[in-house]
Amino acid sequence: MADRFLELHQIKKSFGRQTILNNLNLTVNRGDAVVIIGKSGEGKSVLLKHLIKLITPDEGEVRIEGENILQMDFNELSIVRRRFGMLFQSAALFDSMTVAENVGLGLKESRTYSKDVIDNIVMEKLSMVNLADAADKMPSELSGGMRKRAGLARAIAHSPEIMLYDEPTTGLDPITADMINNLIVNLNDRLNVTSVTVTHDMKSAFKIADRIVMLYQGKVAFDGSVEEVKNTTNAMVKQFITGSSEGPITE
Ligand SMILES: Nc1ncnc2c1ncn2[C@@H]1O[C@H](COP(=O)(O)OP(=O)(O)O)[C@@H](O)[C@H]1O
Ligand SMILES: [Mg+2]
Repeated sequence: MADRFLELHQIKKSFGRQTILNNLNLTVNRGDAVVIIGKSGEGKSVLLKHLIKLITPDEGEVRIEGENILQMDFNELSIVRRRFGMLFQSAALFDSMTVAENVGLGLKESRTYSKDVIDNIVMEKLSMVNLADAADKMPSELSGGMRKRAGLARAIAHSPEIMLYDEPTTGLDPITADMINNLIVNLNDRLNVTSVTVTHDMKSAFKIADRIVMLYQGKVAFDGSVEEVKNTTNAMVKQFITGSSEGPITE
């Protein structure tokens, strides 16, 4: 039996007169690696932000283990958010801090751990992303791929149960992108996390996903395994994965 972990239920979200999500339903089971695809501006990032209430829907419910996070008070929501790790598109590192300080910042602020414990965790996470040698470097000394990896180490510093990745490979060259994809697959396995990744890069999607969800006009237009996506007769999905300007998807 599938173990329903996260659910978006009948989500409606508009910005002004623009409807972005229109009665959207999505269930993520524990252990899933879900990848959300869709063209630019379709609402992928908006969807992801709903999962941790960085955006509040106009209607609908956002559930974790069956509980609606929209009804939680500040403390309850903070506890839920700590179960997530997030790697956003601009893996914004603080320029005035070393890589190690950036990775350890959240742990330091939680005031739960001693400095020695934090130093150990930081080095462990940096090793996981093959960045141990760069611990004392400043962000300005890093390449794009190294910055992403530092952001990734920071996102996993508190050992989250659920990882959210927003366009983890956008802006990287193909080789570095492949390295990041491998790292994500590896981390998802090793850390035993549930993950939701937003991307418009099909190579990443095929590599990371065990389930692919396509967002189109505010709804889930397709939801299936990598095999199902590759063999689909759905014209819209076909058009998207082949990157063709001809097909049902216009503008
Ligand atoms: N905070 C916001 N205020 C107003 N409009 C927004 C906001 N966030 C996103 N949008 C709009 O919602 C649409 C979907 O955005 P987004 O989820 O970022 O798309 P993508 O699928 O490329 O990630 C875009 O038209 C964007 O301009
Ligand atoms: Mg986006």
